[in-house]
Amino acid sequence: YTITVDDSAQGAAIDDTMYGVFFEDINYAADGGLYAELVRNRSFEFNSTDASGFTGLTAWQVVNGGGAAPTAQVVNDATRLNENNRNHLRLTSDGPGDGVRNLGYNTGFALKAGATYDGSVWARSTTAQTVTFALTNANGTVTYASGTVAVDGSDAWKKYELTLTANATVNDARLAVTGGAASVMGLDMISLMPHDRWVGKNGLSTLRKDLAQKIADLDPGFVRFPGGCIVNVNSHRAYTAANNFPRARSYQWKETVGPVETRPTNANFWGYNQSYGLGYYEYFTFAEDIGAMPLPVVPAVLNGCGQGFRANEQNELQRHIQDTLDLIEFANGPVTSTWGKLRADMGHPAPFGLTHIGVGNEENFPAQFITNFVQFRDAIKAKYPNITVISNSGPDDEGTTFEQHWAQNRANNVEMVDEHYYNSPTWFLQNNDRYDSYDRNGPKVFLGEYASQDAKWFNSLSEAAYMTGLERNADIVKLASYAPLLANVDNVQWRPDMIWFDNHQSWGSTSYEVQKLFMNNVGDRVVPSTASGKVMQPTPITGAVGLSTWRTAAKYDDVKVTSPDGTTLFSDDFNDGNADGWRPLANRGTWAVTDGQFVQTNTTAEDTLVAGPAVAATDYDVTMKATKTA
Ligand code: AHR
Repeated sequence: YTITVDDSAQGAAIDDTMYGVFFEDINYAADGGLYAELVRNRSFEFNSTDASGFTGLTAWQVVNGGGAAPTAQVVNDATRLNENNRNHLRLTSDGPGDGVRNLGYNTGFALKAGATYDGSVWARSTTAQTVTFALTNANGTVTYASGTVAVDGSDAWKKYELTLTANATVNDARLAVTGGAASVMGLDMISLMPHDRWVGKNGLSTLRKDLAQKIADLDPGFVRFPGGCIVNVNSHRAYTAANNFPRARSYQWKETVGPVETRPTNANFWGYNQSYGLGYYEYFTFAEDIGAMPLPVVPAVLNGCGQGFRANEQNELQRHIQDTLDLIEFANGPVTSTWGKLRADMGHPAPFGLTHIGVGNEENFPAQFITNFVQFRDAIKAKYPNITVISNSGPDDEGTTFEQHWAQNRANNVEMVDEHYYNSPTWFLQNNDRYDSYDRNGPKVFLGEYASQDAKWFNSLSEAAYMTGLERNADIVKLASYAPLLANVDNVQWRPDMIWFDNHQSWGSTSYEVQKLFMNNVGDRVVPSTASGKVMQPTPITGAVGLSTWRTAAKYDDVKVTSPDGTTLFSDDFNDGNADGWRPLANRGTWAVTDGQFVQTNTTAEDTLVAGPAVAATDYDVTMKATKTA
């Protein structure tokens, strides 16, 4: 195979930020994943809105220290910890040792012998007592670590902290929290994290170390967050008394900042509860830690991801636009500003240097979307003219919605459009030239989500090949991120994924290795090149040379397949009388090599099929010219 490089020519400049990561709380990527909290349902807020069968006591068991069993009641009343943290546990016990036991995520708490764990609890009681944290086996007969806090009898909510040291390495421990006296006690925000967490320039984080390190090792140019479908689905109303504290809401950044005990939890589109322990401050600081540009996506006050147009909440639009302006102030504003002060209070007086923001994710309704988008964009530009505001292309790579979105984006002089597609490896190989023909005067492209739909080396190689096409078009494709980033093997809603983990280990997929290779070797400029020679095909060839999954709106031309000895197996210039010489996909054939024989099916009279000799399906010269039309 020969690659001819023309180093006298200048190709597109490639930005350092070209390849990044897309983090979404899908597959338990945040709670039970990157967020280092080991206690599941720590604030007793789980609810059937999150998932069928969830209750305030999901992942909790009652522990009886002797005598009558205690009552462990989840209450939502005026004695709550604060307005946003509606529920807490009321434990009524007749003596010491009564309490509750948390099951943790998946198999339980993963402990390492000698490692320390940071525990905390908010408690209130009229009875002063010693509260014990114990890491134990499933039925509490073996103790791996324990510690105590002294709860006073003031009947006021206070936070108590302790450190536990494990004496064993196990992956299925439980955490028991028990009282020291007959009493009525309120408990909330029961937390335990390994002390050995990710440390970056912002210091000790609340992120799980091995997962954060794997992301850091990619050396991403940007971090897109927090979604994905979790951004825009469900109600756009705020979590307030006036709205009766809606249980399922779009991702509203203000709910995710400030002290964790004041962050309301929310139903997650992917079928669980999101604690928001991993929130906007954590995203911004982590992005900074790993030298990546932060790229938040805010709800467009429509519903993406196939959820339909939510016309009855358009009254929320102006608040969400203001929230977006406030987000930029949180990221970049002076410490004297309202939201810049919150950033400083949380530990980061310096601005985060936000330059890009996305509005909406996979919106279904181009006309309504662009109406809302333009209002966001114009408000942002009026106050922050240097922020790039990213629109999107809808949920569909192929359909009319996609084309309509692009037309609307072009008509409204949008700067950048977020495209998403998940396709076969063949599609990625055949569409390497996708961006060659994109209008150089139109919006730039942010390829915010893509993946070849399986997890084999062939998929990853097809992604690598495709990325050379992105890079060749780096003048128009400015940003690209594989998706999704993380998956907990015990809670998978989507595959393939880039990084996999369970409670105590993590590993990268083959696509992780491809992404790492590209991100760690971003060039300065494309050097134009051409390639010629034999194309190795996998055995058997199915569709790989046949364009059988070619884009719906596409046409193609000039396909020729020859055997190693030069015999033409198939050729067709598709000169079927159309004025443009291009052949519509509707008339396509399907090509395959079966039992060593090149076969075309679905042929039409216009095709010229030459049945070649029996051949080993390993090595063919393929000449293929293909393009898509608008
Ligand atoms: O990456 C998984 C999902 O795919 C995202 O949430 C959504 O944007 C897309 O449909």
